[in-house]
Order: sequence, then structure tokens, then C-alpha cells
Amino acid sequence: MKILAIETSCDDTSSSVVENGNKVLSNIISSQIPIHSKYNGVVPELASREHIKNINIVVEQALKQANISFETFDKEIDYIACTYGPGLAGSLLVGVMTAETLSYIYKKPLIPINHIEGHIFSSAIENQNLKPPFLSVVISGGHTELVIIKDYGKYKFLGGTRDDACGEAFDKAAKILGLHYPGGPIIDKLSKQGNSKAINFTRPMMKGTWDFSFSGIKTAVLNYSKKTDIKNQKNVNDICASFQQAVAETVVIKSIQAAKEYNLKSIALGGGVSCNSLIRKMFKEEGEKNKINIFLPSPIFGTDNASMIAHIAYHKVLRKKYTYPNKQIVSISPSLELKNW
Ligand code: KG4
Ligand code: ZN
Repeated sequence: MKILAIETSCDDTSSSVVENGNKVLSNIISSQIPIHSKYNGVVPELASREHIKNINIVVEQALKQANISFETFDKEIDYIACTYGPGLAGSLLVGVMTAETLSYIYKKPLIPINHIEGHIFSSAIENQNLKPPFLSVVISGGHTELVIIKDYGKYKFLGGTRDDACGEAFDKAAKILGLHYPGGPIIDKLSKQGNSKAINFTRPMMKGTWDFSFSGIKTAVLNYSKKTDIKNQKNVNDICASFQQAVAETVVIKSIQAAKEYNLKSIALGGGVSCNSLIRKMFKEEGEKNKINIFLPSPIFGTDNASMIAHIAYHKVLRKKYTYPNKQIVSISPSLELKNW
């Protein structure tokens, strides 16, 4: 079964063809980072305009790389999937309308997919050993979520962020330090030359809840940088390394605690921050110590991509749980939450 998927929830235009849920025949991602970095963050209006410019090219490339043309589309593609939320309304609309058009022309069922579910299962694309139950840790620019995964479509939400998402904290800390958007990868890089013990930023453990709060560390970075010379690269490197250490410890310690509390033997990461080298290293070390299997997606599947959307769509088809079997109309849902199905 081949699924053509489209993902445009934020600032990446992505399309992918995936066979039987795991065989990625193509995964094209057109990034808008050069456009948004000037503004130190994603500008929604610019994002949707860029999606409009790129979407047809990206879909054509995804089909071409999978050896499919518009002539063979009907024979080769079984379903079309698209992200319908959560995300930026204008961005989501471009992907959904493109998917609706293809679905209408080729008379293929259209399967609307929740972006967060894509991130939850992104490690399962490459690693078929990842099977529920497991603890999902989604850390991205828009989300920070701990969820118990009982099966595809069967979730128990444990906690999320009360303020900034994990990636958002990286991006805002970077902005304070005069670094470009997205700040996460830059902080990761500069931290390698910094001293992570230089500044003791507090670890917001939020005891008694599985929720997170990152705005305090970000404010601590702001206050510290006001009284420090941040034109001096060594100081910036030390702030980056100390900030990253505080965030990584918070995420890793809380996740391991949650897995132990609920007797889960596996943790799977997803979202852009799962690319962070310290977070990856600490999860592996703590996983070994606590006999918990850690599943880390490759960076290409950790950040926003359409293959993870096709993967979920495949599992919805297997379980006959897709919502619009004979219609080609989907409504976007910018504030969509994780739901059971
Ligand atoms: O999952 P994603 O591509 O998009 C969203 O759904 O948000 O995540 C983007 C986020 C950005 O905040 C970016 O700074 C962060 O992931 N990120 C990182 C790293 N690579 C990307 N954060 C820390 N370290 C990294 N290496
Ligand atoms: Zn995402």
C-alpha cells in the first residue's frame, strides 16, 4: 500500500511517498529557514505564501523520487494523507487544499492526520522494534509532551508545557544571545565549546506533576546576559552550554521518572529538539542505567517531515480508522489536541 503524504503545519513544506508504513520511497522537505531567520522566528503570513510557492514542486519531486508520475498516480497511490492540525492556520490550509485537490482528481481517500501523532511515532518509521506500550517524549518548537502510548490511537497524556515549548525556549534563549533562528541547532553547536558548569541555571523539575515550564530558564538567561559581556564568544558559549545542560537534565530526568513510574520499558523521542546532541547522549546513558530502551529518530524524521504523516495514515488504514473514506473534504484544526481513535 502506497500513501502520498503532505505536511505543511509550520515552516517546512514536505511531501513523501511511503509503502506499507515504513518503506520511505521519498521524503522531500523544503525548509523556509532563510526567510524566517531574518525575523528571529516564523512569520505566519510569509510561511503560508512560501508553502503556496513550493507545494506543487515538492509534491512532484516526492512522486518523481518514488518513480511515480501523474500518469501512473492512479495505479500507484492508494491513499492521500495530510496534516490538518495543530499548526499555523494559513500553512495548514495550503497542505490540506493540495491534498484535497489530488484526492478529488484521482478519487483517492483522504486521511487527515494529527501532526503530534506523527512526531510520537517518528522513531517507528526506521525501527520496527518500537512497539507500544512506550513513553513518548515530543520536544519540538511548538510542543513538549509526555504521553503513554498504549497503541496507535490509544494515548494517555501525562504532561505538557505550561508556558514555552522546549524548542521555543532554545529559540528564545538564542535570540537573547543575538543568535539566529532556529536557535536550537546553534546552541547545540556552541555548547560544545562552552562550560556547562559555568552558570547554575535552575532545573524546573515541577515536582508532583508531569508538566514542564521552560520560561523561567529563559528569563534566567536574559537576566544573566544583561550583566555579562555577550560580545565575548566564550561567555556566549558558556551560557549556551549551561542552558542546554539545564534543559536536557530537566527533560531526561522527568522522562525517565515517568517511564519508571508507569513501568514502561521503552521511551521514544520525537520533534526537532530530539536532534540535540546532549539530550540524545543523556537519554542513551540514563536508558542504559535504568534498563529502558531509548528510540531516537534520525534528524530527518525528528524534525517536521511528511513520512511520519504517511506512517500514521497507514496504521489508520490498517485499523479502518480514517475519518473521510469517501469524501475529499477536510477542515483544518490549528489547535488540535491529541485524541484517541
Ligand atoms: O519538530 P520541529 O521541526 O518543528 C515543530 O513542530 O516545531 O522542531 C523545530 C524546533 C526548533 O525550536 C529548533 O530550534 C529545535 O527544534 N531544534 C533543536 C535542535 N535542532 C532543532 N533544538 C535543540 N538542539 C538541536 N540540535
Ligand atoms: Zn513538528
